Amino acid sequence: MPEITFQKATIEDIDAFIAIEQKSAHSYMYSNCADREDAEDELKNCEVYFIKKDGVIVGSTEYQIKEPGHAYMSGLVIDPAFQGQGIARKAIEFKLEQLKDMKRIDLVTHPHNSKVICMYLSYGFIIEAWKDNYYGDGQPRLVLALNR
Ligand SMILES: CC(C)(COP(=O)(O)OP(=O)(O)OC[C@H]1O[C@@H](n2cnc3c(N)ncnc32)[C@H](O)[C@@H]1OP(=O)(O)O)[C@@H](O)C(=O)NCCC(=O)NCCS
Repeated sequence: MPEITFQKATIEDIDAFIAIEQKSAHSYMYSNCADREDAEDELKNCEVYFIKKDGVIVGSTEYQIKEPGHAYMSGLVIDPAFQGQGIARKAIEFKLEQLKDMKRIDLVTHPHNSKVICMYLSYGFIIEAWKDNYYGDGQPRLVLALNR
């Protein structure tokens, strides 16, 4: 049985973080770090974790505490070579466990990203809103939220 583990990334891991983001996300459905400065901001302002399979980095996942009781799930990418193995589900479950005391958890995703939408709905998230041109690239996003 392969072992999936999570390792907190720091600013020293910036090159590995950029590499996994670049490898995994080439789609109008996912807005990855535009440049090094962007990646630096993510590492400074979010809790970024590498997802490892048997010790090898196969993805990254992030969240950010917006205010007491409110967390935002800001990123999730899996290396295409390792997709479809249930790793994203494990990453979501890891984040939900870290954030189990939060009253509200939310995220945004592209309305065409059905894999992601179905996954979050299965954990009790609801589709709360549609936002046009969310990142300024002309693409919309759905707001998904878990309120408890
Ligand atoms: C979305 C993403 C994170 C999913 O990662 P993954 O590890 O392949 O996902 P999982 O293997 O855990 O599968 C998740 C669900 O998608 C389904 N799925 C996986 N690969 C699929 C495929 N090629 N076609 C259709 N469904 C698929 C699985 O059946 C699973 O559903 P289930 O658990 O209900 O059976 C990954 O595709 C990715 O990195 N995409 C680019 C970045 C992105 O869009 N991130 C999300 C932003 S919010």
